[in-house]
This record gives sequence, structure tokens and C-alpha cells, in this order.
Amino acid sequence: MTATTDRGAWGSRLGFILAAAGSAVGLGNIWGFPTQVGRGGGAVFVLVYLVCVALICLPIMIAEIAIGRRAQKDPVSAFAVIKPGSPWWAVGALGVMAGVGILSFYAVIAGWTIAYIWFTGSGVVHGSQEAIGAFFTDFTANGPATVLLTLLVLAMTAAAIIGGVRDGIERVTKALMPMLILLLIVLALRAVTLPGAAAGLDYYLRPDFSRLFDVSVLNAALGQAFFSLSLGMGAMITYGSYLPKRVGIAAAAMWVVFLDTSIALLAGFIIFPSGFSIEGFDPGASGPGLIFAVLPRLFATLPGGHLFGAAFFIMLFMAALTSTVSLLEVPVAYLIDSHRWTRRRAVITVAAVTFVLSIPSALGNGAIAFFGQLPVVGMDFLSLMATVWNNFALPVGGLFIALFVGWVWRIDGALAELLAEQAWFPGARVWGFLIRYVCPVAIFLIIVFTIQGLF
Ligand code: TRP
Repeated sequence: MTATTDRGAWGSRLGFILAAAGSAVGLGNIWGFPTQVGRGGGAVFVLVYLVCVALICLPIMIAEIAIGRRAQKDPVSAFAVIKPGSPWWAVGALGVMAGVGILSFYAVIAGWTIAYIWFTGSGVVHGSQEAIGAFFTDFTANGPATVLLTLLVLAMTAAAIIGGVRDGIERVTKALMPMLILLLIVLALRAVTLPGAAAGLDYYLRPDFSRLFDVSVLNAALGQAFFSLSLGMGAMITYGSYLPKRVGIAAAAMWVVFLDTSIALLAGFIIFPSGFSIEGFDPGASGPGLIFAVLPRLFATLPGGHLFGAAFFIMLFMAALTSTVSLLEVPVAYLIDSHRWTRRRAVITVAAVTFVLSIPSALGNGAIAFFGQLPVVGMDFLSLMATVWNNFALPVGGLFIALFVGWVWRIDGALAELLAEQAWFPGARVWGFLIRYVCPVAIFLIIVFTIQGLF
């Protein structure tokens, strides 16, 4: 047995699925997905997104978990265990950096959700659409408040994982996921019955095919799919490393992808119908503030709306926390496995470094005034971070993971792990084809065209 007790392990198959789904389901589904759909022109984005999930991300999810379970190590050592003496460990190193980079802006948004528990619950955010929008802008421009909330998020994340894998992560998600889904269904039912909801459903479900081959839509959808599924940076390698051999990987991966995608789609059924029920709504215009501008209006249409609002943001925050935990766990596992650090020291150090890096994102509009002179046009610092890590670092990580599994470890080697103990995996051959050819080529082309489009 390579799995030692100090590395930790999942309690059961359900425990793994919940923890991996807990990592996947978060702000990416409920905040990120609607925001990207709004920017990407509605239903056409949804369509491209679903294709990316099925043909690129599901195969890579299976590949990542297989690498982790085979090596039983953090992402950096995992590549070195499977292909000793090769430079492939650098892919894991990219992932460790991406973990810190993504966490640095993710914690800021998670901090906003804490504030909105109070804002919606107490009713201070209300009134016309302009007032609700202005409230968000003023709040996010309040540097000291957003920085402190970010610190609070990182402290809670650190506290959660100092306790180790099973207690810290598995338990929270078990209680949370069913409640979150139920609340989202209630909100979606209310949203689709609002006056004007039909226009929102139309926007969300009827694609404008003229944008189907728009490279920026392809790139945004691919990046969003990687982000939402926690792929491309070794989070699933790390979680797979705590997975017992008796659990079938393919079936577990399919569950995680199914849960994550359903919750993202559900969020769209809330945001677009309620958005379009508001006079003069422009889904592409609000950027990161979209859900914070739309949801208070939806809660106002419900009896006991304050309670719904507070409950919604409590659950969104908890979902974010099970995701920040997985982001922090990657660099922490690296320091423990590769450098023999204690868990406590690793957690505190990485959280502190991330906090410093998060300050420009947390300062929001203040940072725009500061960085506005840079040749970075039309984006706040937080959106810039999100674009760099999600749209580039994660797909590039995924590209290398696919190449590694398809051509270095090779499909036969990976299948030995995936089919261990008679595991269920009906599409094994199709998976091998997707990993070897479809994933690398598709990701490569999307990245190259995107970079070309920048000039
Ligand atoms: N998937 C999470 C979300 O949608 C965010 C996240 C957690 C993540 N861990 C990750 C994204 C690892 C990329 C890589 O909110």
C-alpha cells in the first residue's frame, strides 16, 4: 500500500464523489456560468460549453483522476512517479501556481457572497435596478471591506483543511449538495414564471448560430468548462490520489460532471428569466456583478424573500468554500509530499501568500484607478486574473495532461488503472481516442486561434 494514513484518504465512493463535486460546484457554476453566457451571447455559448464538457472535459477528468490514483501523490510528484526523470513534473508545477492564482481572485468573490448574506437578509439592498447595481459597485469599491472579507475566506479555508482530507472536506459537502440543488430548483421555478421570463428563456435556449465559430466564444466556453469542473491544474489528480483502488474512476467522474453541469444549467434558468423580467436588461453588460444585480430583484418577488436571499447566499458561500478548499489543497499537497512540510505549516504559508496576491483583485475599482495606466484595456484586475488563469492556464494544463496520458503513460497504461478491480467503463476505447487525438488537437487549435485574435 502506498496510501499512508498521514496523506489521508476518502471514506467511501460516495465520499469521493461528493468531495470532487464539492470542488467542482461553486462560484464557477452560479456566478461564472451565467456571467459567461451573458458575455458569450446566450444559447450559443451554452451549446459550445456542453460540447466542450462532453468531448474534452469528461475525458480529461477521467485522465486526471487516473494519474492521481496511480501515483498516490501531489500533481508535481505524480508525473515524476509515472514517468521518472522526465520534465513532465512541470505540468504539475503549473497547476500548483494556478491553484494560488485562481484562489487569489476566487476568495474575493467568495467574500462578496458573505456580505450578500447580510445585505439580502437585512434588506439593505433593494429598490430600482439602478439602485441595486449602484449598491454592488459601491460595495466592491470599498477596499478595506473587500480585503477583510477575502482574508476571512482564506482563514476559513485554511481552518477547514488543516484538519485533513476526510473530516475537512467530505462532511461539509454531504449536507450541502442536496440543499443547494433544492433551493436552486425553487428559485428556477419562480424565475421562469415571472412576467417577461419568456424572453430570457429564448435568450438562454435558442442559439444564434452566427456566433458558433466565434473564437472568443469557443475559448471562453472551454475555459469556463475547465474552471467549473476544477480541471487542468491537478485538483482532480490530488483528489484522485486519496481514492481507494476499489472505486471505479469512470463512473465517479461521470457523476461529478453530471452534477456540476446540471447545477450550472440550473443557475442559468434562474438568472436569465429573472434578468429579462427587468426593464432594459442587458445580459452582457454587468460582468462580474450580474448575479448580484439580478438576484435581489428575484428575491423581492418571493414571499419571505429576505430569507430566501440569505439562505441562497449562505449556500453559495458554502459551495464556494468546498471549492477554495480544493484550490488550496493542491499547493498544500505539493509541499507535504514533495518537500515534507507539515500540513499546518503548508496551509498557513500558502494561505498567507495567496492573501497578498489577492489584494489587487479585492481592491476592485480602486485597483482600476491604480492599474488603469497599464496596456490592459477594458478589464478590472479580477476579470484579468480570471481570463489569464481560466482561459489559458487551465486549458494548457489540460492539453499537457491529455498528451501525457495519451502518448507518454499511454492508453494501455492508463486503462490498467481505470479498469482495475473490474471497474465499469463501457466507453474505454472512445475515451482513449478522445484523449490521444481530440482533446490535444481541439485545445491546441482554440488556444492558437485565440492568441492570434489578440493581435
Ligand atoms: N470548480 C470550482 C467552481 O466552479 C472552482 C475550482 C475549485 C477550481 N478547484 C479548482 C477551478 C481547480 C479550477 C481548478 O467554482
